[in-house]
Amino acid sequence: MLKKLFLIMLWCGNLFLLIACKKSYLITNNTDDFLNIIKDYQSFNEEFYDLYYQEYQLTNNIILSLNKVNYPDFFLNKYDFPSFNFEGGQFVNKNYYLAASYIPKNLVPVTINKVNRKGETMLINKEALSAASKLFDDAKSKGLNLVVFSAYRSFIKQKELYDNAKDKSYVAKAGYSEHQTGLALDIATLDTGLSIYFENTAEYLYLKNNAHLFGFINRYPKDKTMLTLYPYESWHFRFVGKSLAQKLYDENLTLEEYIYQYVELK
Ligand code: DAL
Ligand code: ZN
Repeated sequence: MLKKLFLIMLWCGNLFLLIACKKSYLITNNTDDFLNIIKDYQSFNEEFYDLYYQEYQLTNNIILSLNKVNYPDFFLNKYDFPSFNFEGGQFVNKNYYLAASYIPKNLVPVTINKVNRKGETMLINKEALSAASKLFDDAKSKGLNLVVFSAYRSFIKQKELYDNAKDKSYVAKAGYSEHQTGLALDIATLDTGLSIYFENTAEYLYLKNNAHLFGFINRYPKDKTMLTLYPYESWHFRFVGKSLAQKLYDENLTLEEYIYQYVELK
């Protein structure tokens, strides 16, 4: 009996050791192998090799290791960089900007339920419109009435908004707005408009649970304001395509977190 108990304890001990080790398990523990893998990445800088290796032991993620070492201030809003394109479209945030002359291709008039402003033709990226159209139809079939308040905004329009805004914390500076990509939509109900009250509507609940199925993400979530550097905007949705939206939803990631972990910054 004692022998049996001893064997069980030994087995449990080994299992524990195995689980503990697995946490920090590397694709390779060998620095030569690691060098062979990492040297092919474009942002690899030989000078920082030891730091990459150290980070890799902590993260087990090559891209994250490269980004953490090459761009330690990514989340600190210290430096500005030109926006770049990735699988989800143009990356724009407090640090990554579009040129004043940037006008996206494939802009088309918004044909779904929207507010009408005198003299304004609301535009949006064609693919984003097609996805939003399906989203709005699905919402409608459930008795929900979504309304677009804003879509593409030119650099000049954004500047005007920023200059005239009383509370500038909610408005991006010209060049730093996702609306200039044509991929962002402000969606709310007519009753609430773009206000904190939208969060309490059935329409919001629907978007929260379904927008990703159509390729959209809520870009400035409540619990990630320290990363996005914008206050919570329940109404601001960004088109990134279905598969990326699903991944971001499943892993609860902002674009900032996704880029840092999965896209090699250069
Ligand atoms: N409200 C968002 C941050 C914008 O102005 O683009
Ligand atoms: Zn917006």
